[in-house]
Amino acid sequence: MRVFFTGGSGKAGRHVVAHLAEAGHRVLNFDRVPLGLAGVHDLIGDVTDAGQVYSAMRSHAGYDEMESGTGAEVFDAVVHFAAVPRHLMMPDTETYRVNVMGTYNVIEAAVKMGLRKIVIASSETTYGLCFSDGVVDPKVLPLEEDYDIDPMDSYGMSKKVNEVTARSFQRRSGADIYALRIGNVIEPHEYATLFPPLRETPGLRRRITFSYIDARDLGQIVDLCLKKDGLGFQVFNAVNDENAVPQPNSELLARFFPRVPLSRPVAEREGLLSNRKIREVLGFVEEHPWQKYVP
Ligand SMILES: NC(=O)c1ccc[n+]([C@@H]2O[C@H](COP(=O)([O-])OP(=O)(O)OC[C@H]3O[C@@H](n4cnc5c(N)ncnc54)[C@H](O)[C@@H]3O)[C@@H](O)[C@H]2O)c1
Repeated sequence: MRVFFTGGSGKAGRHVVAHLAEAGHRVLNFDRVPLGLAGVHDLIGDVTDAGQVYSAMRSHAGYDEMESGTGAEVFDAVVHFAAVPRHLMMPDTETYRVNVMGTYNVIEAAVKMGLRKIVIASSETTYGLCFSDGVVDPKVLPLEEDYDIDPMDSYGMSKKVNEVTARSFQRRSGADIYALRIGNVIEPHEYATLFPPLRETPGLRRRITFSYIDARDLGQIVDLCLKKDGLGFQVFNAVNDENAVPQPNSELLARFFPRVPLSRPVAEREGLLSNRKIREVLGFVEEHPWQKYVP
């Protein structure tokens, strides 16, 4: 597929773009800074500027595409990752503006150009624990996609609004729009430093319900979204199978969530932020569990 990718130069995007290119997709990366990956053209621009988004989304995906002389074709799919990626990185107002207007511009342009597949980066922070003021309990565990998400910070709020925007545009257009509630992204080099301390201090990951997503497995999830048609608007938790800490769920629940009810029995190792839906609906099979990289 010809894929218009926003934010492909970032921490998560660079692994996902590489995965998609390797899988045979033609990717154009639209970002404020270049990625510099061979075979992937960088178009520098700003997703909060609707004019730039419209113009870029009707571009050639590289100089070689100009050879045909037939003009630039409409892309087959959009993957939208560009954002302010966490709380307290920029003032709240700017986080909200960039994330909400950027996503609106990208989805509107894609839908009005007739694209039928849009994948957007939402976030696990929509569940309301990660950037909450104070330590809060979830209403129920495990966290699954039908949860009544209620973040209190501007980043989580922006991602919740983006899901609402996506759902409305899906109704208007009939296109497939899938929102990925991405967990904490782990790049290959990060396992060595981030994971060993969790043996002694699993509580470091309570705010993200002990979840993570390997950046390369996230590439697989996005590719599966591109391949799966006809689901309309969908939300998917994008996380690995198991918790990022070695303690079993019986211990984690008793220690960190003693008052939280369970919606169903959970296996000792399964993620409390559940990826059941991507396994069952998309056929996700993780290739990079943390245990492969941490002795
Ligand atoms: N990293 C995580 O753990 C995590 C977790 C959940 C969700 N997410 C989401 O995944 C996506 C990617 O996150 P990341 O960690 O790679 O972030 P990142 O900051 O590393 O990458 C974001 C990219 O978007 C670009 N960008 C930012 N504003 C832009 C604008 N106005 N116009 C064009 N490009 C712009 C940046 O230049 C950067 O290359 C984001 O939507 C983020 O909210 C990330």
